[in-house]
Amino acid sequence: MEALKSESMSRVAVDYVEGILQPKPTCDTWDQIWSFQARPDDLLISTYPKAGTTWTQEIVDLIQNGGDVNQSQRAPTHERFPFIEWIIPSLGSGLKQANAMTSPRMLKTHLPFHLLPPSFLEKNCKMIYVARNPKDSMVSYYHFHRMNRNLPAPGSWEEYFESFQAGKVCWGSWYDHVKGWWQAKDQHRILYLFYEDMKENPKHEIQKLAEFIGKSLDDKLLDIILYHTSFSIMKQNPMANYTSVANEHMNQSISPFIRKGVIGDWKNYFTVAQNERFDDDYRKNMADTTLTLHFRFS
Ligand code: A3P
Repeated sequence: MEALKSESMSRVAVDYVEGILQPKPTCDTWDQIWSFQARPDDLLISTYPKAGTTWTQEIVDLIQNGGDVNQSQRAPTHERFPFIEWIIPSLGSGLKQANAMTSPRMLKTHLPFHLLPPSFLEKNCKMIYVARNPKDSMVSYYHFHRMNRNLPAPGSWEEYFESFQAGKVCWGSWYDHVKGWWQAKDQHRILYLFYEDMKENPKHEIQKLAEFIGKSLDDKLLDIILYHTSFSIMKQNPMANYTSVANEHMNQSISPFIRKGVIGDWKNYFTVAQNERFDDDYRKNMADTTLTLHFRFS
């Protein structure tokens, strides 16, 4: 009982920004985040949590630096790509990091489109969005909550399933997030990718990323990037696997940050009843979008 108490007491507090649950430090500095000044040559990577952000960041970094692996080892992911709305008192503020960074910057966000600081659109920045099927996103996010004290405790799997379905998790509803960015992609410079496509044909998706960024990759460079961003290599890469973050923040002995990296892990967690309910909610929530054509998880 005492252990449980201290576990929940040491977790971050959360609150709402415009109806979206966020860690309290983000809520407290929301005005500064909203008025963040993007620059025209910023490259933003946006995702709902656990969609393959870190994987995409590693690919993008290697594309940007011409496949120079030593260069991509210069710092951990969260330093190479400031996470604009993220503030962990003892780890620092993504906003401050971004403001201090020289251009061209690579940035990260999990914000839903309607909460994106407007200057990204005013400056017509290039943005990459990655979506992952919701069942695997939920499982991955559940394990991330377990190991990450900068998120609320997830409770049991059954409890977490309910919170996720209700959109009562940090960064809000998966449905609203993927649909909001999908709708925005035709009006703005957004490349919309899918984790499942990256798994099925990583070379093709790496090429797409390079074209969007404006770089050309020959076969040799493509193979270097493919190799260094494979699951097994990234899992061992201390600059990409978040082992640089202290255990008190992310306890990788509970669940590693680079965990399984597969499609369909949800089958090991969803009960038959949960799956039926999920499919029903999914049909209702996705009735107004063509996005459904891209998700294969049944
Ligand atoms: P799992 O928890 O399902 O394993 P994010 O970076 O957005 O937090 O996403 C984390 C998810 O991406 C985790 O999913 C992680 O294992 C997976 N991942 C990270 N690197 C990967 C890679 N190179 N290939 C495939 N999946 C990867």
